[in-house]
Amino acid sequence: MRVGVLTGGGDCPGLNAVIRAIVRKAERHYGDSVIGFLDGWHGVIEGNFTELDVNHMRGTLPRGGTVLGTSRVSPRMFDDGIDRVRATMEATGAEALIVIGGEGTLSAGVGVFEAGAANVVGVPKTIDNDIGLTELTFGFDTAVGIATAAIDRLHTTAESHDRVMVVEVMGRHVGHIATWAGIAGGATLTLIPEEPFDIEAVAEAISRRHRRGRWASIVVVAEGARPKEGTMELSEPEIDQFGHSRLGGVGQAVAAEIEARTGYDTRVTVLGHVQRGGTPSALDRVLCSWYGIAAIDAVHEGDWGSMVAFRGGEISRVRLADAVAQLKPVSPALYDVARAFFP
Ligand code: F6P
Repeated sequence: MRVGVLTGGGDCPGLNAVIRAIVRKAERHYGDSVIGFLDGWHGVIEGNFTELDVNHMRGTLPRGGTVLGTSRVSPRMFDDGIDRVRATMEATGAEALIVIGGEGTLSAGVGVFEAGAANVVGVPKTIDNDIGLTELTFGFDTAVGIATAAIDRLHTTAESHDRVMVVEVMGRHVGHIATWAGIAGGATLTLIPEEPFDIEAVAEAISRRHRRGRWASIVVVAEGARPKEGTMELSEPEIDQFGHSRLGGVGQAVAAEIEARTGYDTRVTVLGHVQRGGTPSALDRVLCSWYGIAAIDAVHEGDWGSMVAFRGGEISRVRLADAVAQLKPVSPALYDVARAFFP
């Protein structure tokens, strides 16, 4: 069989580990040939690809980024996008397309599959961990580790200066990274998109902590966190050429308000793309290897329109359309764990 693979959307630690696993089992077990489309859906639309084999993927397990490149281009952006995907699949002889991506990339996969343009199998990628019907997307564990290590470092400098440190982490629609890193890093407060915050209550909680003699505080803020209506002004994010809002700035705004309302010296750290770069954690390497093997198995079982998912400690398959139908929010029970440590 000839199998196509693409990586789309924001890059993420572990993309190469997934490709490596697909190629390994495809070539050595099934006798397939694998091609990698370049720069996500852009490569499929333009017919740009490279042949992939075990030798090509050697040494890539611990390497961040993606050897195939990525983009936020989607077939939906072109009137003839779906037809161009169909034409490329025919021209390359690829009988299946493994789509490794987050919500945008996988949703495009649903469109392509439902139009009959390609036999699609999805793999859930994103540091945000917001894809439905899977307990884990790969890259998330690595991002939480990076954010936690940063928070650990901020504790000592915050304590030395008696400061409030606001840490902005990624998480555009959901606060998985913030909640996990907030709990792991012993944050004073964690603000997430699922729970609009009241800035007055935030300032009051920090003041309460000070009154108890704790002078340093860490406030973790997900980039998509928003204030309760009418409680604080926040500028609207810019929308880029792909219709993707460019977030960032809430940390700065929260820090300014905390300083103004409490009078405490406050600083901001925006972790940004540091959370997405570099080597995947051991957990992500295992998850990616498992996802890659499961994806090529799904191809050989002809389970088109499926997505591999981590559920109950095992890899299973769900319908791709169901997985992207709704983003997965932070469990209220887990957020309550974070909240139990708020002042
Ligand atoms: O979707 C993953 C993600 O890392 C989000 O957490 C973040 O908001 C976004 O990508 C950043 O996108 P870009 O790399 O295009 O700035």
